[in-house]
Formats: sequence, structure tokens, C-alpha cells
Amino acid sequence: MTDQPTNTSRAPKPVKASRCTMNEIVLPNDTNGLGNLMGGRLLHMMDVCAAIAAQRHAEQVSVTASVDSVEFQSPIYMGEVVVLEGQVNRAFRTSMEIEINVWAENPRKQTMRKCNKAYYTFVAVDENGRPSKVPPSQPETDEEQQRYDGAARRRELRLLMAGRLKLQDAHNIKDLLLETLREDEAQTA
Ligand SMILES: CC(C)(COP(=O)(O)OP(=O)(O)OC[C@H]1O[C@@H](n2cnc3c(N)ncnc32)[C@H](O)[C@@H]1OP(=O)(O)O)[C@@H](O)C(=O)NCCC(=O)NCCS
Repeated sequence: MTDQPTNTSRAPKPVKASRCTMNEIVLPNDTNGLGNLMGGRLLHMMDVCAAIAAQRHAEQVSVTASVDSVEFQSPIYMGEVVVLEGQVNRAFRTSMEIEINVWAENPRKQTMRKCNKAYYTFVAVDENGRPSKVPPSQPETDEEQQRYDGAARRRELRLLMAGRLKLQDAHNIKDLLLETLREDEAQTA
């Protein structure tokens, strides 16, 4: 295996090429006093899953730039299997939005429960730790296209919140708000 990127043409890569699935059993050392998986331990697993997806897409070392919209919907208990699934929703210039979904698998009941979801932003970096260009991502299904479209709006929101984007430059958010206003007006007319 070589350390050099193989996708030197920077040709678009399908979303599915970045997909990462991880399974991990919850052990006593991972839990709090109630026997539930600790939030920080789960965030670590999610970060690892997101890093693998980002690096599969970028073919370069990629670092966590931000995490948003983490939802802890349901506890995960000792002995259950944490199932994580991640993929690059959309690649930008040097950054990528990765969506991570988490389920808890109960081995005795043979059930799966949706527990968490989060969006991670990773940035590909060169050997000096400076941001480095990534290939475009190519959605192939309706679901992937929806996530791709939504990623542009979420990116603007997180850059606004981080003070890295001015409101007048948030074109995707403005278009969405105007469209929603028009729909509301049409319904009440
Ligand atoms: C992430 C990092 C490489 C960005 O460096 P930078 O000098 O701010 O680079 P730039 O301003 O050129 O931004 C590079 C990209 O990061 C994105 N970015 C930077 N901060 C961001 C944030 N808070 N949220 C989302 N995206 C962000 C920019 O939008 C840009 O994306 P684009 O090229 O696709 O348009 C740098 O901040 C870093 O090394 N951080 C530490 C990473 C780390 O160690 N993570 C592990 C946690 S301990």
C-alpha cells in the first residue's frame, strides 16, 4: 500500500465509496453508573467512523474541524452492539460533511434501535497539516441527493455560527427561507 493519493485526477467519487460501517460491543469500562454507554465514548466511536469515511473519500489524512447536531435519542446498554454507519454527504473544496447514524443492536432480542445522528466536518490536510483539495462527491440515489443538497445549507449555517461567513453570503439559506415564505403565503392566500 502506498501513502500517495491514487485519485490524482480529482475525478468525482461516488458517495458509496466513502461508506464505513463499524460494530462495537459495549463493555463495563465504557459505561456510567447506570450501565449505559458514556456519551464521550460514543462520540469517540463516531469520530473514528467519520474519519474513516472522510479518508476513504479524500485519500488523504483528514482532521475533525467541527461537529454539529449531535442527538442522543436513546441510551445504549452494556452488552449491546453499537452499529455505526457513516458516509460523505458532500465534499466541498478541502472540507467534507460526514453524516453518522448510530443504532443499538440487542443480541438477545435481535432488535435494532436508532440512537444517534450527527454531522461531522473533516478537512483533508497535507503533510504540513495545511488544508488540501478533495475530489468532488457524486450522489447516485435520491436519498444521497437529498443529503447532498442539505449539506450546502448546513455548511452555511455552521460557517455562520463559527463567524466564518457573512449572512449576505449565505445564499442557500436565503433561497430556502424565501421558498418557505412563498409556500406559506400560497397556503394562506
Ligand atoms: C481544520 C483546519 C485544518 C482548518 O484550517 P484553517 O486554517 O482554518 O483553513 P481554512 O480557513 O483554509 O479552511 C479550510 C476548510 O475548513 C473549513 N472549516 C474551517 N473551520 C470550520 C468550522 N468550524 N466548521 C466547518 N468547516 C470549517 C473551511 O470552510 C474550509 O472548507 P473548504 O475548503 O471546503 O471551503 C485547522 O483549523 C486545524 O488543523 N484544526 C485542528 C484539527 C484537529 O486537530 N482536529 C482534532 C481535534 S483535537
